Amino acid sequence: MKTLIFASSNDHKLSEIRHMLPDYHIKGLKDIGILEEIPETGDTLEKNAEIKASYLFDKTGYVSLAEDTGLEVDALHGAPGVHTARYAGEKKDPGLNMDKLLKAMEGIKNRGAQFRTIIALQDQKGTRFFEGIVRGNIALERSGNDGFGYDPIFIPDGHQQTFAELDASIKNTISHRAIAVQKLVQYLEGQK
Ligand code: IMP
Repeated sequence: MKTLIFASSNDHKLSEIRHMLPDYHIKGLKDIGILEEIPETGDTLEKNAEIKASYLFDKTGYVSLAEDTGLEVDALHGAPGVHTARYAGEKKDPGLNMDKLLKAMEGIKNRGAQFRTIIALQDQKGTRFFEGIVRGNIALERSGNDGFGYDPIFIPDGHQQTFAELDASIKNTISHRAIAVQKLVQYLEGQK
């Protein structure tokens, strides 16, 4: 079985990707003894994903994967974008992040936004990118308790409820991350 390294210590993300790539042995950061966060010093999602994937490839020699996600709001010219996790500060507090975004959007009628995920794959041939986008709208207030991050204020197109209200199985089919992972899976299948 071929080994892939995935730059995450998040068990939920690891089990999601293992489920979608059953023919691969996917190792997370903890499995290879990396306990610290790899610094995300890039100014784009692509750069951050590439930094993490190439760091792991250099360190392990295995084909390495890393992802970075941003919430891009149309009326805010794509902000918070690459700063999504730390929008309201280093604590990465989802509640404070949502409060800050709702405040920034007070009185704004155009609520259009998108989650965008970039997955970088690094091997000896170089870096390859896979992009997943889900379009939607920023709600006027929080609704729902499921999910994480900005889920309570993001209503995906074609639905009336936020990601935090929708069934996880729906979110996992239409989400930015799911779309990017599907493209990665197609690529890896084609390499066999
Ligand atoms: P990461 O690159 O996956 O760590 O995502 C960066 C930030 O984007 C997270 O800290 C969350 O605030 C937000 N985010 C990423 N994916 C989602 C999602 O599926 N729902 C809500 N927020 C998300």
